Amino acid sequence: MNETVTTSPAIGWTLPTGQPDIAGGRPGRSQADLDVWHVLVGKVAEIGNRQGWAKAEVARRIGIPDGTFSQWFSGKYDGRLDTQNSRVERWIASVEEMAGLAATIPVAPGFIHTRAAAEIINTLVFAQMLTDFVTITAAAGTGKTMACKQFAATRSNVHMVTVSPHTKTVHGMLMELATALDLTQHNPAKLVRSIGNRLARSENTLLIVDEAQNLIDAAVDQLRHFVDCYGCGLALVGNDEIYTRFARRTDGPSYAQIKRRIAKRVRLPKPPAEDIGKLLDAWKIEDPDARKFLTGIGMKDGALGQIDKTIKLAVMRSEGAPIDAGMLRKAWSNRDVEGL
Ligand SMILES: Nc1ncnc2c1ncn2[C@@H]1O[C@H](COP(=O)(O)OP(=O)(O)OP(=O)(O)O)[C@@H](O)[C@H]1O
Ligand SMILES: [Mg+2]
Repeated sequence: MNETVTTSPAIGWTLPTGQPDIAGGRPGRSQADLDVWHVLVGKVAEIGNRQGWAKAEVARRIGIPDGTFSQWFSGKYDGRLDTQNSRVERWIASVEEMAGLAATIPVAPGFIHTRAAAEIINTLVFAQMLTDFVTITAAAGTGKTMACKQFAATRSNVHMVTVSPHTKTVHGMLMELATALDLTQHNPAKLVRSIGNRLARSENTLLIVDEAQNLIDAAVDQLRHFVDCYGCGLALVGNDEIYTRFARRTDGPSYAQIKRRIAKRVRLPKPPAEDIGKLLDAWKIEDPDARKFLTGIGMKDGALGQIDKTIKLAVMRSEGAPIDAGMLRKAWSNRDVEGL
């Protein structure tokens, strides 16, 4: 068992010519451990070649220091073979499991021209053409993000950022913007000006801020400043909170400066049956029972997103059989999200 040399032209995993020395009966270095090692090095090399991962990459993925992995692989590792073997074995199992799972994960249809998407895109065109400030609000899962991404991917001078609770402050949001605009500015005092100048480079720049309900008031006001001083369009996209936040009310801040600048507010209802139908068509769901069941799910909170997740789970559990209403019902109950 000393030789067996195989070379891959792509990444060059060569099976070791030597093997661990198990003489002396030291713990964790038995004949059985050696046999396991032989099987594992072959599998690791096969995965490395298949995925195009070099040794350092594999070591990083397994979570073993580079040097230790090299020694283990070449048969020169002098410590407990069984410990390293089992680390590698666990990793191989997870890689194979992921590969098996990946093969069963259905590919969702791409962007569909739903009515909601058309309305969102029309509003974004308006904001970009007139370099104005708009808000777009709709319930979760109605397709806001899909439509905005589609718009950003297919139009020039459109930049999209997604705000999270972590980036809701003025500084956090500015850093997100800088990244989206490919800007490096280490001096915080110059950040606003640098971003502004970049936005002003084109006459029709549109900034889309998704999940904008997360922004604190000062961050929204900072965005208003970009519209005012650098002439860009701005779309705040998110849930209903954005719609109601700047509404007339007697308590709290007046938001007069912000409200005065909002050119258009779009508030979408739950997805129309027509949009749900289009999504089901794209998934090629034909069985009337299945369509009826999924349409019901699409009317719930989470809307089109619920349909997408339920179909995906049903397909993954179907083992290749065509999807029917029974499988979808099981997938829905397996997800256990009713009433959330
Ligand atoms: N136009 C569309 N084309 C294809 N799939 C869509 C479309 N709109 C929605 N979907 C499906 O619905 C899911 C949810 O859509 P999306 O993430 O855009 O919703 P959202 O309105 O941004 O929701 P949230 O408020 O939770 O962020 C998508 O992952 C996709 O599966
Ligand atoms: Mg979204």
